[in-house]
Amino acid sequence: MFTLQHLLSLPVFLSTTLIAHALAAGTGFIDSESNTLKTNFAAQLTGGEKCDDDKFQQIRDGFNEMTVLFRNAARVDWNGQAELEYFGRQDRIGNYTSMIEENLIRAAQYANLKGNATRNPDIHVRCDDPNNVCNEGNKKEGKHVAYNIGNEPHINFCKRYFNLDPLDTKVEKAAAKGDTSKDIMQYYNRATVWARQVMHISAVGTAVTEKVVPNSYSDSTGGWATSVSNGAMNTSILAGVRNGKLNTVGPNDIQTFKYAYGATRAKLVAMLSFQMPYDAANNAENYALYAQARYVIQKKNFYPNVPIMQFGDDMAVLANEQLQDGGEKKYACYDDPDVLPRKTDTNSIGAPLQTSSATSSMFGIRPKWTGQALYATLALCLLLSILA
Ligand SMILES: *[C@@H]1O[C@H](CO)[C@@H](O)[C@H](O)[C@H]1NC(C)=O
Ligand SMILES: *[C@@H]1O[C@H](CO)[C@@H](O)[C@H](O)[C@H]1NC(C)=O
Ligand SMILES: *[C@@H]1O[C@H](CO)[C@@H](O)[C@H](O)[C@H]1NC(C)=O
Repeated sequence: MFTLQHLLSLPVFLSTTLIAHALAAGTGFIDSESNTLKTNFAAQLTGGEKCDDDKFQQIRDGFNEMTVLFRNAARVDWNGQAELEYFGRQDRIGNYTSMIEENLIRAAQYANLKGNATRNPDIHVRCDDPNNVCNEGNKKEGKHVAYNIGNEPHINFCKRYFNLDPLDTKVEKAAAKGDTSKDIMQYYNRATVWARQVMHISAVGTAVTEKVVPNSYSDSTGGWATSVSNGAMNTSILAGVRNGKLNTVGPNDIQTFKYAYGATRAKLVAMLSFQMPYDAANNAENYALYAQARYVIQKKNFYPNVPIMQFGDDMAVLANEQLQDGGEKKYACYDDPDVLPRKTDTNSIGAPLQTSSATSSMFGIRPKWTGQALYATLALCLLLSILA
């Protein structure tokens, strides 16, 4: 274990430690064609505010692809490289492995009805950005691709989502590029985005919350007692990343904490000894990237191991400046959580989602219903006049 002094003297990157951290606080499948309306889903997509037909389709296809992505990842091999890199060493995460497995299984089953009649909460999807954050952030810190609202089954898709490739298109493209084919971030696609968002839904992702028990400080144990419980999954914070706006080194720089998006940070929260052992298990992005890595292994027979980190060697990792700015800002706003509170005037439950075919058939049947209502009214008048 190295000292606080060591950390504070590190040049660019992680400049604070535990102290700062303590302040922060049987799978099934979808096999129908992706372009047909899913009537047998265990969950439907609803709402669709300001999403046109084409966007609906891209959202729905991403949803399908997400369950495909998780299908294979739900069978965890705790001796595997991907498990180590995205969740941490077994001796650190032993208390959380069953939680991780259950999260993966719930995600894989979310949209699946086969062999399980339990209906999952419908997911309210939308494109109208009710929290007005899609354009927050900047080129350096990235911008949101999508965000969850209130840990509910409620996701807003920002315009960047619609530029992303489908799962298999992206995997084929990335694997064909010899020089970068080992880089996991090259595989990031719309299903990966969905995977992160689904984990934020409290019915899917469970995380560990650890709170300090008030007035419990003890000199003999040298600390505060904490109580551990479970809560919805958010985004973990990378302990001690300095605010990029300040250039001096020292404790005064401890201002903002960067959220652990992207493979570099996902791996850092899983490996650095001063992260909490559950930080990776608590981070939706780690599940998304883990599932993405497993999918590449399954499809391409190799593990995309870049960014490479020396597990077990904090100092080597911290000294590696190349890791400090991974150029991964395309898929998240690094300054902000991607779970936002639901505003009081934002509707929680979405109206049933209509495809263009459903819309046109609805127009088709509307005159009929109007006609039936008319007949019923006439019949009622007739009946009333007979009775009178
Ligand atoms: C696992 O949980 C037990 C009981 O809460 C605790 O004593 C132990 O320190 C935990 N182990 C790890 C590695 O966190
Ligand atoms: C069915 O799915 C629900 C929700 O995902 C889960 O809680 C339940 O254990 C599943 N039942 C079986 C028999 O798999
Ligand atoms: C995630 O955020 C929600 C809303 O702020 C909170 O209720 C929950 O406890 C958080 N989860 C964890 C693991 O801290």
